Amino acid sequence: MPEITISNLFQKSLKTNEKDKPILKILHENSIDWMHACGGKGRCTTCKMIVEEGIKNISLESDFETKLRKLGALKSNERLACQCTLQGDIRVAVPEKSKLPHMQYSDD
Ligand code: FES
Repeated sequence: MPEITISNLFQKSLKTNEKDKPILKILHENSIDWMHACGGKGRCTTCKMIVEEGIKNISLESDFETKLRKLGALKSNERLACQCTLQGDIRVAVPEKSKLPHMQYSDD
């Protein structure tokens, strides 16, 4: 079963078989609060994940992500959690700008 580990959320990890669901939705369904200012429409970038391991285990990028990447809003190791699905294990981190004030984050 694919596993998502969030390094700067105290190595929080969850396993899921939801291969057709956006990663953002999987996170929320597992009670992990993750910023999503545009409501998952691929427009705001606040749901950005820094992918530390397993970037090949994430679905192909959406048209929104391609557009944002061309504009320089997404680096090569960054994906939008609302725009992609999980195909294997990944390790991600929450970017500094997307940290929620009521959440506690670890250093890595
Ligand atoms: S929630 Fe806005 S781009 Fe993902």
